[in-house]
Amino acid sequence: MRVAGLISGTSADGIDVAVVDIDDRIQVVAATTVPYPDGVRAAILSVSGAASISRLNFLLGELFAEALQHAGVPLETIDLIGSHGQTIFHEGEPVDFLGRRVASTLQIGEPAVIAARTGIETIADFRPADIAQGGKGAPLVPFLDYQLFCHPEIARVALNIGGIANITVIPAGAKPKDVVAFDTGPGNMVIDALAPPFDRDGAAARGGSVNDALLAELLADPYYQRQPPKSCGREQFGAEFVRATGIDVATATELTARTIALAIGRYPGTGEVIASGGGVHNVYLMERLQALLKPRLTTSAEFGIDPDAKEAILFALLAFETHQRRAANLPSATGACKPAILGKISPAT
Ligand SMILES: Nc1ncnc2c1ncn2[C@@H]1O[C@H](COP(=O)(O)OP(=O)(O)O)[C@@H](O)[C@H]1O
Ligand SMILES: [Mg+2]
Repeated sequence: MRVAGLISGTSADGIDVAVVDIDDRIQVVAATTVPYPDGVRAAILSVSGAASISRLNFLLGELFAEALQHAGVPLETIDLIGSHGQTIFHEGEPVDFLGRRVASTLQIGEPAVIAARTGIETIADFRPADIAQGGKGAPLVPFLDYQLFCHPEIARVALNIGGIANITVIPAGAKPKDVVAFDTGPGNMVIDALAPPFDRDGAAARGGSVNDALLAELLADPYYQRQPPKSCGREQFGAEFVRATGIDVATATELTARTIALAIGRYPGTGEVIASGGGVHNVYLMERLQALLKPRLTTSAEFGIDPDAKEAILFALLAFETHQRRAANLPSATGACKPAILGKISPAT
């Protein structure tokens, strides 16, 4: 079956598209990233109020459908679309709200619009079904990491450095229930805010100096010591974090590297760390990471998976699983009470 995956991550830098053929294995047919038009990223990062959320939801549906047309694969050959959309709010941990405990998440990019424009059945909104089962709705990527990277003798960690960084810990010969995954903390998000739109190759961080006192203070955040499952987002590491801490780009880069290394260091048997996400292009960040890590650091490209396309491939795979009516969350990773069939279906019209 040929399935397209669409996602814009927390960086809101653009729409990642992957088209994959899925049978016993996953074969990538095409992958591309389509930047958001001017103003859209800013609108996403500052969105508030029902009117703008509603309008953005439909606008992003149009943009996601257009992005797929940039992949260079005839739409008639695509059987199914999996769209993660754009997260505008994620709170995997329940909070007190109107006298109840509520965990919630909101992804926009209207799938009815995607299905209408492409004529292809579109499955979207994959996180809520996991939250409804008491999970944190994230991370979902371990389902793919397990299939791609599980090795009988080598313990591996898959690392994705997007706006937020997350790891999937896959012990040698692991069963799905042995897989642990969580957000390690900030990825590129704080760096992007300090050197917009991003610190190309890490040049600014390399030329700056780390504020050790501030770094030590930030590393004392109990989030980094907490047992998984756990997830974080723009709520913790967005504009307010940057303002309140007065952090600079060199310290932000070191914070990302240290918190990733700290998390991976908890799994001392790890033989290889396989990185993906836009952060792999930050040469300085990758140098700092390898210096801090004991295991070998490589990227998913070594396994034939374009580091910029891994998450789009994930949502193609999740749509495929839902289409087969199979659960695709890993409760050991999200904390859900049980496996759940993810997503909501907009039929082709
Ligand atoms: N050449 C580069 N140098 C440094 N950082 C880069 C480079 N290319 C991409 N990035 C980083 O990758 C980010 C996008 O990564 P991505 O995996 O798409 O994140 P998300 O999933 O959060 O959208 C950019 O915001 C930027 O921080
Ligand atoms: Mg992105």
